[in-house]
Amino acid sequence: MTNPRMDGFRNRVGGLAFGGDYNPEQWDPDVWREDVRLMRQAGVNVVSLGVFAWASLEPEPGRYEFGWMDEVMDLLHDNGIAVDLATPTAAPPVWLTHLHPEVFPIMADGEPFGFGNRLHYDPSSPIYRRYAADITTRLAERYSFHPALVMWHISNEYGPTAYNEASSVNFRHWLKRRYGDLGTLNEAWTTRFWSQVYTDWDQIEVPDIPRAWMNPSRILDFKRFTSDALLECYVAERDIVRSFRDDIPVMTNFMRFYRNADYWKWAPEEDVAALDIYPDPARPDSHVSAAFQFDLFRSLKGGQPWMLMEQAASAVSQWKLNVVKEPGRMRLGSLQAVSRGADSVMFFQWRAGRGGQERFHSAMLPHSGPGSRTFGEVTALGREVELLAAVAGTTARAEVAVLFDWNGWWGLEEVGGLPRNDFSYADTVMRHYTPLWEHHYAVDVVSPRGDLAPYKVLIVPNAYLIDDHGVEAITAFAHAGGTVVMSFFSGVVDECNRVRPDGYPGAFRHLIGAKIDEYWPARPGERFTVRFAHGRTASADWWREDVHLETGTALATYADGLLEGRAAVIANAYGSGRVVYFATLLEEAAFGAMLLGQVEAAGVENRFGDVPAHVECSVRQDAQHEYLFLLNHDAERGAAVRLPGGGRDLLTGTPATGEVTLPPLGAVVIQRALQASQAA
Ligand code: GLA
Repeated sequence: MTNPRMDGFRNRVGGLAFGGDYNPEQWDPDVWREDVRLMRQAGVNVVSLGVFAWASLEPEPGRYEFGWMDEVMDLLHDNGIAVDLATPTAAPPVWLTHLHPEVFPIMADGEPFGFGNRLHYDPSSPIYRRYAADITTRLAERYSFHPALVMWHISNEYGPTAYNEASSVNFRHWLKRRYGDLGTLNEAWTTRFWSQVYTDWDQIEVPDIPRAWMNPSRILDFKRFTSDALLECYVAERDIVRSFRDDIPVMTNFMRFYRNADYWKWAPEEDVAALDIYPDPARPDSHVSAAFQFDLFRSLKGGQPWMLMEQAASAVSQWKLNVVKEPGRMRLGSLQAVSRGADSVMFFQWRAGRGGQERFHSAMLPHSGPGSRTFGEVTALGREVELLAAVAGTTARAEVAVLFDWNGWWGLEEVGGLPRNDFSYADTVMRHYTPLWEHHYAVDVVSPRGDLAPYKVLIVPNAYLIDDHGVEAITAFAHAGGTVVMSFFSGVVDECNRVRPDGYPGAFRHLIGAKIDEYWPARPGERFTVRFAHGRTASADWWREDVHLETGTALATYADGLLEGRAAVIANAYGSGRVVYFATLLEEAAFGAMLLGQVEAAGVENRFGDVPAHVECSVRQDAQHEYLFLLNHDAERGAAVRLPGGGRDLLTGTPATGEVTLPPLGAVVIQRALQASQAA
C-alpha cells in the first residue's frame, strides 16, 4: 500500500534522505551560513530542525521568537535543503515548569523529575498538553506552507512514565474505556487476591511506587496505559499540524528495543516509522541486533520503507566507554539500514555541540571541522546515498516471521512473580533471530495481530503472555500448513495475566501436542544433557519443563537428571502444519541448527546459502528491479561472493557478473532487472 504523503516526500527529496538533526539555535548566524555550505558539500538534502528548541521559540509564556527560525528555513530552502520540522515538546522550557511544577513527571522513586534534562513532562498533564498544543499550533500556522517543509517530526523519543495525580485520573478514564464496569475490572485484575476489590473508580490509582509486590494485572495495564497516554500526546500534535495541511507526512522517532511504547499501536498513526539507533562499536554483535531492529521497523507499517532518523557518525557520549566507529563502520551501518528498507540515512547531529550534555557525541561535522576523518566519510557517504536513489520506495520480502509483542514483553519482564524473574525478551528474540541472520534468511517481524498468511515459518520466542487473538492466529497458521517454532514458557497466561485453564501451556497444549505439569527453572549452574534421535547430544541449562506428550513426539530427550528420558524438544503435526517446541534452553549451536533445519524443511528459499556469515546479504525490490546488498562486517577478512545473476553495481556504476570481491568492511549494491514472473 502506498502512502501519497510519503510519495510526495520521496519526490521532493529525489531519492533517499540524507542529513541529520540541526540545532542552529545553539549557534551564531555566521555559523548557519557555513553550515549550509558544508551541508551542500556533504550532499545533505533534509535536516530535522527545532527538536528541542522550545525555549528559543517561546522564551516567555506567549512571547514567540520565530525570526531566527524564519531565517534558517529560508536559508535552507535557498540552498536546496528540505526541512523535517520538529515540534519542540520533548523539552518544556523552565518557565513552564516554574508556573506549573505539576507538569514534572513523578518518577518511580516518588520524586519529581526536576529540571535540567529533557522529557520532563507527565504525558497525562492537561497543562502540559495545553502548552504543547499551543506551540505546535504556532509552528503549524507559521510554517505549514513554507516551501522548505517536507515532514513533521512530532516531539522526540516519547518516553516518560509518570506516577502523578493527573496520570491516575487519565488511567481511570483509560480503564473505564477498557473494562466498562468495575466488576469486569475486578475480575480481570483478580482483585479478590489480597483483598484488593475496588468499589469505586476513584479508588484506583496508578500503581504505587514499586516498593513491593504489585498486582501483576494492574502493572500490565499501567504499561499499556502509559504507552497510550504518550500516543495521545503524539496524536494531538499530529492532528494540529494536519489541520493546517494534510499532504505533509507526520512521524515521531522511536528507539531500539524500547519497552515503554507499543510500536505496533503507534505505527498506524504515523506516515512512516522512524528509528534512532546507536549500535555500540565495542560490541562485536551489535550489527546483528541492529539488523533485527531494521527488520522490525520495515515490518511496523507492513513492509513500507522506514526512516533511519538518527545514528552516530562515530562515538556516542552516553556510555561509560564511548568507542569510535572505525573507518568504514559508519558507512557500512548506514548501508545496512538501507539494505533492510530504510529510505534515509540521518544522524544525530549535523554539527557537534560545544557545550551541553552531548558535547562529545560525534556529529556529521565534528569539532575538528571539515578536514576531519568523519566529515570526509560523511561526504563520501552522501555521494553514495545519491547513487542509491533508485532504491527509495522499494521493499523486501520474507518467508520467515518472528513474533514480537510488547504485551508479551511486559508480561515477562515487568510483573514479577514468575517461576524465574530474569527473562530478557530482547535476548530471547535475538537468540532466535541470530541463526537466521547468520544464514542470510530474509525475516519479517510480526505482531500477534499481524497477517501471517505470507509466511512459511513463524518463530515464537517465549510468548508467556498472549491474547486470544494471537493464540487463534498462530493456531490457524499451523493448521493451514505453516511451521511454528516456539520456545518454552509460551501461551501461559491470557491478556489479563491470568493463568490459562486446563494445565500448561493452556493456549498451546493442542498445538504442541503436550501437557506441561510444572515449569522447572534450573538452579544456578545446573546443566543438562539432551540426546537427539540419532544419538548426538547437546547441553542445555536455565529452564526445563515437566512435559507429558499427548499427540507430540520427542525430537530430543534428557539424558540425565530427574527428567531423564523425557521430552526436551517436541515435534507435533497440527492440521496441515508442523510445530516444534523447545522446552529447555539448548546450547546456541544446537538450537540454531534445529531452528534452521525447520526453516529449510519448510521450503524457505535461501539464495545466499554459501555466503559466509560475516557477509550480510539482503534484497530490496519493486516491480521492475531487485537490489542485492552484500555487506562485509568483518574488519580483517575480505570475502568473495558468487552473484545469483548479472546486474549493475550501483556504487561503482559498472556491470557486475560472476563473483564479486568484498574488502574488509566492504559493501556492494547490485541492481538487477526482474523478469515479469519474479516481480509478481
Ligand atoms: C537520541 C536523541 C537525540 C540524541 C541522541 C544521542 O536518539 O533523540 O536527541 O540525544 O539520542 O544521544
